[in-house]
Amino acid sequence: MSFLSLLSSLSRIPRVSSCNIANSFQSSRSITSKSQIISRNMATAQSGKGTKTVFTLNTGAKMPGVGLGTWQSKPNEVREAVKNALLAGYRHIDTALAYGNESEVGQGIKDSGVPRSEIWVTTKLDNPWHKRVSEGIDSSLKSLDTDYVDLYLMHWPSSSVPEDLKKHYDDWNFIDTWREMQKLVGTGKVRNIGVSNFVMSNLEKLLNDPSCKIVPAVNQIELHPNMPSPKTLQYCKEKGIHCTAYSCLGSTDSPLSKDKTLQSIAEAKGKSPQQVLLMWGLQRGTSVIPKSVTKSRIEANFQLDGWELTADEMQKISSIPDRFKVCGDAWLPVKVFFNEEGDGGDAPSH
Ligand SMILES: NC(=O)c1ccc[n+]([C@@H]2O[C@H](COP(=O)([O-])OP(=O)(O)OC[C@H]3O[C@@H](n4cnc5c(N)ncnc54)[C@H](OP(=O)(O)O)[C@@H]3O)[C@@H](O)[C@H]2O)c1
Repeated sequence: MSFLSLLSSLSRIPRVSSCNIANSFQSSRSITSKSQIISRNMATAQSGKGTKTVFTLNTGAKMPGVGLGTWQSKPNEVREAVKNALLAGYRHIDTALAYGNESEVGQGIKDSGVPRSEIWVTTKLDNPWHKRVSEGIDSSLKSLDTDYVDLYLMHWPSSSVPEDLKKHYDDWNFIDTWREMQKLVGTGKVRNIGVSNFVMSNLEKLLNDPSCKIVPAVNQIELHPNMPSPKTLQYCKEKGIHCTAYSCLGSTDSPLSKDKTLQSIAEAKGKSPQQVLLMWGLQRGTSVIPKSVTKSRIEANFQLDGWELTADEMQKISSIPDRFKVCGDAWLPVKVFFNEEGDGGDAPSH
């Protein structure tokens, strides 16, 4: 069945909303029947604890809860970091075309000797590639030297003009991009598709558009105690969209490690502030993708088994009042953050 005829047949099905059909196809990897798509479970689920945490996406795909981030991981560092992470037990790597390191990430995966089939690989479509989705995934697959990625994300809801990154296309937006990304499902090149940096209003626009036939499996957003975004998390949960926490340690030179509440909880538990931050992220139902190029830190960030945070400790960390945002939108041609959480934390402050 062609993609167009698939869409046309789906449009005749009674719908709860315009975009009620679950993202697909981790297990089947190809479109085989209409009922198969519709029977996909919309609910996301969490199982296991610590490094064994697994998130079941709305496709049925099972994503490891702890991954290695690679933003700002430089050439000559990231290959080794990916290898070290996989040897330490990580089975989830997060990269992006925009990071300029997909080739080394791919080499690190090969160096580790861990079979590709055991590793969850996420990469992202870069903003200037929104009109070239098919070329974007092909470029990433070539650089990563792999046949498929487990998760392909629209990096930002911003369709930048390649020749002038300060300009947004007049005749294209993220809804058009999603329409093109949906066409990748069933090609075997992507097993799940999702978005990143989507706030509630943009998700609402996307889900309500008639062209949206697949609910994003994941929304990867900035999440840490100084940017907890509970409303967005709740919204995504209701829509069956799993949230991955980026900058989960507070990113480079994080002020979080000096937070007194966090420090006292970490000290009492005999853990590092970073380990506590990762556990907090997992226990609130988000996957975490800490970045490090330092072997000892990569290993320490994966020591999350045999302990957990109490409800009281979770509450204390969730109540840290300070707000800061690592990734703002001033560099983009369109605004993508609108202080929808109402906590004034949308301006980047470090
Ligand atoms: N979708 C998006 O738009 C988006 C945006 C931002 C990030 N991301 C993804 O999310 C990942 C994580 O976010 P992030 O890179 O912003 O920051 P992060 O993971 O919150 O923090 C990384 C920083 O923490 C340091 N660090 C790591 N483990 C540590 C430890 N145990 N003790 C002390 N310091 C430690 C790292 O230093 P060393 O490396 O020097 O060890 C690095 O400076 C990224 O790498 C990327 O994959 C996605």
